[in-house]
Amino acid sequence: MPHSTEKGAAVYSPLMLKLYDAWVLGLSNRFAWRCPTPTVLLPFFRQHMGPRHLDVGVGTGYYLRHAASSAQGPLTLLDLNANSLHAASHRLGRADTRLIQHDVMTPLPPQPEGAFDSISLFYLLHCLPGTLMDKGVVFQHLKTHLAPDGVIYGATILGDSTNHNALGRKLMALYNRKGIFGNRNDTQQALEQQLCLHFREVQVVLCGKVALFQARGAQG
Ligand SMILES: C[S@@+](CC[C@H](N)C(=O)[O-])C[C@H]1O[C@@H](n2cnc3c(N)ncnc32)[C@H](O)[C@@H]1O
Repeated sequence: MPHSTEKGAAVYSPLMLKLYDAWVLGLSNRFAWRCPTPTVLLPFFRQHMGPRHLDVGVGTGYYLRHAASSAQGPLTLLDLNANSLHAASHRLGRADTRLIQHDVMTPLPPQPEGAFDSISLFYLLHCLPGTLMDKGVVFQHLKTHLAPDGVIYGATILGDSTNHNALGRKLMALYNRKGIFGNRNDTQQALEQQLCLHFREVQVVLCGKVALFQARGAQG
């Protein structure tokens, strides 16, 4: 692994998580990344959530809280940061939630419940360091835990090539300098290439500066 993954997770202190929904899911998604949460991202999250679901990079648990009724089976939450796991599981308030504190850039431990019907990665890839070629290892690790007809899906903010607006450029510069983001060179094409290395069916669409992806049929 070329860079440390710690900075992309360490910023989520209890205080930051209190501000996260208003700042990121409210203001930034609307005005900087131009991909609204209630009308685009949340419906996309809900649409693909299956009965046995794994959410990777849970943040405050906003999506899980608003979509959890779609998952009839137990929910599994994976994050490198214990604050995020605590905040999301507390918000969910479901006794059947399983928590895994783990770096997604390294192979997952065996899962006692077996394969997942759906795995979500919302706003995780742009927090990881390196190029999308480096980040592709995440798909390698997760695909072995996906049921044969399961789906892996998510959303990620793309890099400089998407022509960010003035607010977006300011945030991109700040977050990349601090290591909160590692996405300056992330492109839709590179994301598609990485997904196609691991899955037979891949779809990536753009909303503002955000790539929404879904992939099925693990291979390789
Ligand atoms: C930007 S937040 C996204 C939260 C939520 N999915 C959303 O879209 O609102 C990124 C989350 O990914 C976690 N994270 C960052 N790097 C990680 C890594 N290497 N492995 C696992 N989780 C990581 C952070 O701790 C944080 O909870």
